[in-house]
Amino acid sequence: MKKIIIANWKMNPQTLREAVALAKISGEMSRGAKKAAVVICPPSVFLSEVAKALPRGRLLGAQDVFWKEFGAYTGEVSPAMLKNLGVRFVLVGHSERRELGEGNDIVNKKVRRALESGLTPVLCIGERSRDEDGIYLSFLKNELEEGLRGVKKNEMARMIIAYEPLWAIGEGAPRADTPDETFEVAIFIRKILNALYGKDVALAVPVLYGGSVNAKNAGPFLERGGVQGLLVGRSSLAPKEFGEIIRSVEAGA
Ligand code: PGA
Repeated sequence: MKKIIIANWKMNPQTLREAVALAKISGEMSRGAKKAAVVICPPSVFLSEVAKALPRGRLLGAQDVFWKEFGAYTGEVSPAMLKNLGVRFVLVGHSERRELGEGNDIVNKKVRRALESGLTPVLCIGERSRDEDGIYLSFLKNELEEGLRGVKKNEMARMIIAYEPLWAIGEGAPRADTPDETFEVAIFIRKILNALYGKDVALAVPVLYGGSVNAKNAGPFLERGGVQGLLVGRSSLAPKEFGEIIRSVEAGA
C-alpha cells in the first residue's frame, strides 16, 4: 500500500497566484512517486484552481467540510461542492478547528456526512499534553470513539485516522513526537479500532502521523512509527522540504 502524504497548507498562501505556483511545484516534487500518494489540501477558495494546476495523479483534499448537504448555512462548504471540484479527501476535526470550538459531536457529524457523500475523511485526533498516568490515552480513546460513532464497518474502508499531538504541532512546538512514542499510540489506535470493528478493519485503516514533520524525521516516522503516512503542515509550504519528504518516502521500504 502506498504511503499517504497529506499537505495541509492551512490558511496559506494569501494569493491565488502563489497557491497555483505552490500546487505546480508540489506536484513536480512528487513526479514519478511510486510509494507516496500525495494529497494537497489548500484553502477552499483555491481548490478549483489548484485542481487544475496539479499534475495528474496528485490528489486533492479539503481542510474541512460542513455536515449538511445544502441550505441556509452561511459561510459553510458542502460535501457536494467539494466533490464537484474533484476533492476526494477531507480533514475532519483538525486540532485548529477543535480549538475554535468544534467538539466531538460536530466532528462526528462531519465524518458521517463526508462518508455518505463519498469523500474520504481524515479524522484528526490528538492530546493536548502527555502525562504519566495515561490520561492522554483515555482522551484519545474518547476522541476516536466519539468521532466514529455510528460509522459502519463497511464505511471504514474509506476512513483515515491522523494522530496529531497538539504539543507537537506548529511553529511554537518544542519538538515533534518521536517515532517510538508514535508507534505506541498507533498500536493503541488499532486496539480501539479492533474493539469497535474487529481485526481486519484495525489492521487496514491507515493511521498517519502529523506534528512538525520535516525532511529529517519523515523517514524515521514511516519506518518506526507504525504509521502509513504523514500529515504535513509548515513543511508542505516549503517545496524543497516537501520534495525531500517525498523522496524519503520513495527511498523507504
Ligand atoms: P505542522 O502542522 O507540520 O506545521 O506542525 C501539522 C498539522 O497541524 O497538520
